[in-house]
Amino acid sequence: MRLRTIENIDVRGKYVLLRDDFNVQIVDGKITDPFRIEQSMPTINMLRNAGARVVIVAHRGRPKGVRNMEYSLQPIADYMGIKLIPDCLDKDFLNEMRDGDMVLLENVRFYAGEEKNDPAFANDLARGYDLFVNDAFAVSHRAHASTVGVAEILPSYAGKLLASEIEHLSAVMDNPKRPLLSIVAGSKVSTKIGVLKALARLSDTLIIGGALGTTFNFAMGGRVGNSLYEADQKDTALEILKYAADNDCRVLLPLDKGVAKEFERDATRQNKDFTEIEEDDVIIDAGIKTTERDVAEIRQAATVIWNGTVGMAEWMPTWSYGSFALANAIAEQTRAGRLESIVGGGDTVAALEATGVKGDITYVSTGGGAFLEFIEGRTLPGIAILQVK
Ligand code: 3PG
Repeated sequence: MRLRTIENIDVRGKYVLLRDDFNVQIVDGKITDPFRIEQSMPTINMLRNAGARVVIVAHRGRPKGVRNMEYSLQPIADYMGIKLIPDCLDKDFLNEMRDGDMVLLENVRFYAGEEKNDPAFANDLARGYDLFVNDAFAVSHRAHASTVGVAEILPSYAGKLLASEIEHLSAVMDNPKRPLLSIVAGSKVSTKIGVLKALARLSDTLIIGGALGTTFNFAMGGRVGNSLYEADQKDTALEILKYAADNDCRVLLPLDKGVAKEFERDATRQNKDFTEIEEDDVIIDAGIKTTERDVAEIRQAATVIWNGTVGMAEWMPTWSYGSFALANAIAEQTRAGRLESIVGGGDTVAALEATGVKGDITYVSTGGGAFLEFIEGRTLPGIAILQVK
């Protein structure tokens, strides 16, 4: 895939509309993990150093076309130390900008035209700018006005982060070092059917964990108690297992689980085999045997692709055991030069952050849904429009 990139473009004095993904979690006005913002900085710095007048357009949450200040980008502007322009369609401030200046526009999803990719809204948004740069890999699976609409109007290019995501993810999918182990967890089978099939085609071994794994256990006739799982996805789960077998992919499902009587952070943890799980047990984490087996698999692998925590990793330390063990094993092998590791998805990246091993991973994607869709081989509309014809 060849994209139009900004490397050889003269941007001095140009008004650049830059799409970034700043969809970060904010608790009590504070950004919990600025990873996406940090990863956007190389493009921002490059454009500013080259003399561009940079206007960033971004979203946060799903305010559904309504100006809901709960989703304001003000905390992000504060974090970056830049001015927030309260109206995305305001153009007056452009006259005051000098070469190298940068501002942030308020949440583009405050406008109904954004998610509809309304051509009139895209036109209004694009007006006043010389070119468009998309560096928001994480939202490139959405055909919105600020990802696709403006790219149809302005000369448009891929930013450094977007290009780097594609390069790293394509490399592992086109030519992975083997054995390739994929670990997919999280909550819903229904949202991961495509990626599970794609990874079954690609991988030598596929570990399915978390609540996703519980649905597979259920489909196989296992006991799941009062846990989170999708009873209606039984046939889909069985179909995926058959698909994996047809594609010579070994699938490993959970063997045991960390359970409690209530779904609560400070509930008492017990380790139980699937045969021992009672009606009122709630699965909250991977079990000890499962985790030891998964760590052993990681130690045998040459490439690991990981998406989804295998338990409530944010409920430390009781329920983070399984996810943190995976994070540590992947990091240890990567540090030792024995493993190429690719990790994506908000919760998974947060688990890496919490264990302090994010820096050890070969490539950490900023994408959640976009990461999954890319691996699935789907065309991401925000990227397709930047391709060299
Ligand atoms: C993300 O956080 O994955 C992206 O910003 C996309 O957000 P969305 O799922 O609300 O479109």
